[in-house]
Amino acid sequence: MSEDKSPRHAAERRAAEVSEAQIAVHWPEEDYFPPPAQFIAQANLTDPRIFERFSLEHFPECYKEFADLLDWYKYWETTLDASNPPFWRWFVGGRINACHNCVDRHLARNRNKTAIHFVPEPENETVHHLTYQELFVRVNELAACLRDAFGLNAGDRVTLHMPMVAELPITMLACARLGVIHSQVFSGFSGKACADRIVDSESRLLITMDAYWRGGELLDHKEKEDIAATEAASAGHPVERVLIWQRYPGKYSSGAALARGRDVIVNEVLADFRGKRVEPAPMPAEAPLFLMYTSGTTGRPKGCQHSTGGYLSYVAWTSKYIQDIHPEDVYWCMADIGWITGHSYIVYGPLALAASSVVYEGLPTWPDAGRPWRIAESLGVNIFHTSPTAIRALRRNGPDEPAKYNYHFKHMTTVGEPIEPEVWKWYYSTVGKGEAVIVDTWWQTENGGFLCSTVPGIHAMKPGSAGPGIPGIHPVIYDDDNKEVPMGSGKAGNICIRNPWPGVLQTVWKDPDRYVQQYYARYCKNSDSKDWRDWPYMAGDGAMQAADGYFRILGRIDDVINVAGHRLGTKEIESAALLVPDVAEAAVVPVADQVKGKVPDLYVSLKPGVEASPKIASKVAASVVSQIGAIARPHRVVIVPDMPKTRSGKIMRRVLAAISNKQEPGDVSTLANPEVVEKIKKQAGGQD
Ligand code: WT7
Repeated sequence: MSEDKSPRHAAERRAAEVSEAQIAVHWPEEDYFPPPAQFIAQANLTDPRIFERFSLEHFPECYKEFADLLDWYKYWETTLDASNPPFWRWFVGGRINACHNCVDRHLARNRNKTAIHFVPEPENETVHHLTYQELFVRVNELAACLRDAFGLNAGDRVTLHMPMVAELPITMLACARLGVIHSQVFSGFSGKACADRIVDSESRLLITMDAYWRGGELLDHKEKEDIAATEAASAGHPVERVLIWQRYPGKYSSGAALARGRDVIVNEVLADFRGKRVEPAPMPAEAPLFLMYTSGTTGRPKGCQHSTGGYLSYVAWTSKYIQDIHPEDVYWCMADIGWITGHSYIVYGPLALAASSVVYEGLPTWPDAGRPWRIAESLGVNIFHTSPTAIRALRRNGPDEPAKYNYHFKHMTTVGEPIEPEVWKWYYSTVGKGEAVIVDTWWQTENGGFLCSTVPGIHAMKPGSAGPGIPGIHPVIYDDDNKEVPMGSGKAGNICIRNPWPGVLQTVWKDPDRYVQQYYARYCKNSDSKDWRDWPYMAGDGAMQAADGYFRILGRIDDVINVAGHRLGTKEIESAALLVPDVAEAAVVPVADQVKGKVPDLYVSLKPGVEASPKIASKVAASVVSQIGAIARPHRVVIVPDMPKTRSGKIMRRVLAAISNKQEPGDVSTLANPEVVEKIKKQAGGQD
């Protein structure tokens, strides 16, 4: 086939050689949807002059407006110290406590208001409405316990591996009260993945829960902790203690035994701390509040370090003006607190504004696709925040469900991956009933909060486009030759942000070089420069900017697969496959999926003399799940006789990706082993 020079094949070859980004820029422009008048009438932000106030001329002092949403023990002296780029220091000299800002300061006026609506997955269990007073009491008792029973001090790290229960924000806030740095690991991640993060962060404690509900099953979660604690110990960093919350206080719901001297039931020790109060620690604005690990180009996950003052002011401001949260709203972000979205927009942002925030334990489609709308109806939710993956699943499983329930959203968010205009329109008309404004917010774990989005009371919406940079964020697209790609040119490139902002990560935990390399080195104009203008932040996404200034995000440019709105490193998945002794080589490629956006296809070749068998394929899949978690489970494991390789021995993932996505692999004649392509196509091309 590679010899065929007919026009049809030439066209196919070109099609296979152009990147996803180049194809996407040929999507047609969508029509605008104006924000509903009713929304504008009540919006927190409707004055377009905000963009002048936040122009680069007024940078960085404009960000005072963000920090002024918070209570400070000591006001800061310097808004931004940029003297050592790219290590930005925000609100220098200020002292602040995140827990005080999310809890204590609301008591005077909102003591009796619901802070957290905890909705258990089983529908026959009662919803728990935790007031700000109850949150205050529980956070204080736990903080006292962590300090006095376990000796935690400001600056210590603690790994949390907790499900979606009210105890998770309680634990995060108790840490914040003491100035202890929390590192919450998504509960769906494996014990091994948790161990890696314990070791990297050198956490003193691991805090977890015995069990939680997911898809109608009470999952044993404590058994993962045994793996986490054992693996961390054998990697040279044992935790001092494992603290275990009980999903049902007073009852232990796990089959795993408690390790004597290591495991402690939190609910039991807490009895000694009834009524105890702890003064919030007045932390420097730049003290780290938490770490959040994310996948990057190399195998090891990066611990993104977020600050206290900068981060909290950024999520408070964006919650108020982009999420448009008012004190009387009931706000539901259906993300998991184990991801940055949950940290910023379930816990810290909404609670900083004294909002009522919903924490839902389980699957959105459990027991059926009407569940979210029943929750919205019964709690009176009027702001709803979710991902394209969840929207696709709800649309597929219950396209007519929303109409059956009497709820009304004023505002909805989509986040995590590009949303297809068709899915956007279903979200708008069916979920939003044509009454709600939608924001498509583009950002990343590293960013703390939103970067691009329409301002809901100002801009028209455009399906599939995130919108312009939010006030204070100045995005730019660079091409491979470091030139700016002008808006409206129809060309895609690398999206960067010209200026630092208070929510951006401070560094990669214990790895400042990686921080500089990953985000700043590529487009730095002069590495000796002390001027922040020379240090644009590179997000690692392909994007294009339309003539109206709106950005359309096209996806990752690095070795990362965005599955269901979350980044998975291909190297991590490949290394997990290589742990199976029969496997010689592994290569992961993204495959388009109707619900999850992208899913990983895993190609493996075996060591000489080993017969391919379904058993090996399932061992490989099991290894990925046990190393990383079910979220990384390969869509398919394809055992191939050999990988397609260049003459220099590089695996051609592009060829595998084309086969997985049922596209033509293009010209393969320059490969070292072109004949293998047809064989792989026969094996993998036809099946699903
Ligand atoms: C990557 C970041 C930050 C929220 C959860 C994901 C993609 C995020 C959008 C959007 C298109 C998006 C990008 C980004 N992404 N939001 N609105 N439209 N793509 O956090 O795991 O750090 O992933 O998600 O590719 O780089 P994350």
